[in-house]
Amino acid sequence: MRKMIRCLSFIHVLLLSVSCFASGTARGDFAQCMSAQLTPHMDPFTVIHSSKSSSYSYLLESSQQNPRWVNSTATKPLFIITPLHESQVQAAVLCSRAHGLQIRVRSGGHDYEGLSYLCGTLFVLIDLVNLRLVEINMTDETAWVQSGATLGELYYGIAKESQVHGFPAGLCPSVGVGGHLSGGGFGTMLRKYGLAADNVVDAYLIDVNGRVHDRKSMGEDLFWAIRGGGGASFGIVLAWKIKLVRVPPTMTVFTIPKWLDQGAIELVHRWQFIADKLPEELFIRVIIQKVSDGKAAQSIFNSLFLGKAESLIPLMDQNFPELGLKATDCTEMSWIQSVMYFAGYQKGEGLEVLLDRTTQYKSNFKAKSDYVKEPIPETGLKGIWDRISEEKIAFVIMDPYGGRMSEISESELPFPNRKGNLYNIQYLVKWEQNDARETNKHVHWIRMLYRYMTPYVSKSPRSAYVNYRDLDLGMSASGNGSYLRASIWGPKYFKNNWKRLGMVKQVADPENFFRNEQSIPPYVAAGQRYK
Ligand SMILES: Cc1cc2nc3c(=O)[nH]c(=O)nc-3n(C[C@H](O)[C@H](O)[C@H](O)COP(=O)(O)OP(=O)(O)OC[C@H]3O[C@@H](n4cnc5c(N)ncnc54)[C@H](O)[C@@H]3O)c2cc1C
Ligand SMILES: *[C@@H]1O[C@H](CO)[C@@H](O)[C@H](O)[C@H]1NC(C)=O
Ligand SMILES: *[C@@H]1O[C@H](CO)[C@@H](O)[C@H](O)[C@H]1NC(C)=O
Ligand SMILES: *[C@@H]1O[C@H](CO)[C@@H](O)[C@H](O)[C@H]1NC(C)=O
Repeated sequence: MRKMIRCLSFIHVLLLSVSCFASGTARGDFAQCMSAQLTPHMDPFTVIHSSKSSSYSYLLESSQQNPRWVNSTATKPLFIITPLHESQVQAAVLCSRAHGLQIRVRSGGHDYEGLSYLCGTLFVLIDLVNLRLVEINMTDETAWVQSGATLGELYYGIAKESQVHGFPAGLCPSVGVGGHLSGGGFGTMLRKYGLAADNVVDAYLIDVNGRVHDRKSMGEDLFWAIRGGGGASFGIVLAWKIKLVRVPPTMTVFTIPKWLDQGAIELVHRWQFIADKLPEELFIRVIIQKVSDGKAAQSIFNSLFLGKAESLIPLMDQNFPELGLKATDCTEMSWIQSVMYFAGYQKGEGLEVLLDRTTQYKSNFKAKSDYVKEPIPETGLKGIWDRISEEKIAFVIMDPYGGRMSEISESELPFPNRKGNLYNIQYLVKWEQNDARETNKHVHWIRMLYRYMTPYVSKSPRSAYVNYRDLDLGMSASGNGSYLRASIWGPKYFKNNWKRLGMVKQVADPENFFRNEQSIPPYVAAGQRYK
């Protein structure tokens, strides 16, 4: 079923390409084309891995963060390419095109629906795992970071150079820079510094003709589109130039769990009125979670303050006295220690754990997202609580917006969820047994929760965050046609930026070579049939 849904949008293209070649030849021709592009003395097996290579299975599975599809019957890649140099990425694009193969590009492999390594037809997986340099320039406070680096590698690189610089991106160190920056990217410093993508100042992109562009040569439209329009639609981003941000040498964190009889629901209710209006140095998120059978659900208030505890306490007394924050709840630390703290590492572990590319969170999961513009009444929150209590391992994570996020216009970047949003919600359910029955049960549960939330969240469109990829969003009641589906999920992720993304795509890649189930289709004027 899932496979069918995945393939639906490509049936048209598929028929065309399948009719052009026999798969046996495509395999040989591609390998030959690729080998011919490598430098003479190079062993092709370090870059080109076929299903017969001993490295193939390991490479395929190593960075899949959602093991739901490890044993999937969906087509496995004909080849996995692990480029050591940009010329090999160029070659992979040109050879795939020449031989009618699709590609999937993977940086950190965290795509929620596995779109960076699954494809319903013959394809080549370009895995950027070996392109992960991080070069910090303290003179102009920037860094060039290659897409295959993880956030952990980036954070580690910054911390090695400076105690007073940081970068505002996501919490999980194993997330890849490539996908993350492509979709926006946010973490504990978003209220002060906005999205990761808001802090990108240049990029190297390989286009559909295999040419490498920087910001100047790709032009401002394309540069706009790749900073939030989602990965996979416009080309392959090799590297990003980012502006580092200044952080104070001492920050403060706290984590306060509340049970039902400690006012868990009332406190979340109250939190909604203040979280987006607090000074932008203060980020307090809420996690409503159930972590195992038997244990009750709880609300956790989890915070980063860009300053010392002595400044935080009066701020909390003034704005959120109900939480009753005490000095003993607070821990002061550096920015990089806060990164470790939010990633769940214990105090005293060496910073080198940030270089570990395998996530600690690997698990079968399904997630969905929403934006909230008005506080949800207590009765509404109670319903979330009741539903979470039915599951074994489930989370509702509420990340406050406001601050810098409200100062940036909706059209500045493709990511449109700015002013007027109190917070983002991520719903997440995990399960252990990787079989159809279990999967269906938990996916059904989260869909019912999502349906329950309808009256409380943003409407027309009901917004979602593209980095929390959700293939459910493209399903229409009638369920037909790719254009119809794209026109459903497109505005949910991008609102009014959807059309401009399509127009940029039409110029950059009119034949729609760079594509997946939720890539941007080329914009075609009204009345013309979608191809
Ligand atoms: C455990 C976990 C924690 C997370 N925490 C956060 C968080 O705190 N904040 C947040 O904002 N998000 C978070 N995310 C979501 C994350 O930002 C997205 O899943 C992101 O797209 C992952 O990037 P990746 O490179 O790891 O993924 P991949 O699966 O490699 O790529 C994702 C998509 O981008 C495309 N792509 C990848 N690299 C490139 C490239 N170089 N050029 C063009 N396209 C490319 C892929 O083809 C795919 O479509 C989290 C995800 C997980 C699984
Ligand atoms: C995949 O299949 C193999 C062999 O049947 C099995 O050992 C492995 O546990 C499976 N992996 C997952 C994630 O289900
Ligand atoms: C660092 O930035 C400065 C100022 O832009 C520039 O002159 C210098 O060449 C850069 N250093 C490196 C190593 O790129
Ligand atoms: C798809 O469904 C819509 C709405 O039900 C209908 O109007 C349209 O004709 C259908 N298109 C195709 C190609 O079946």
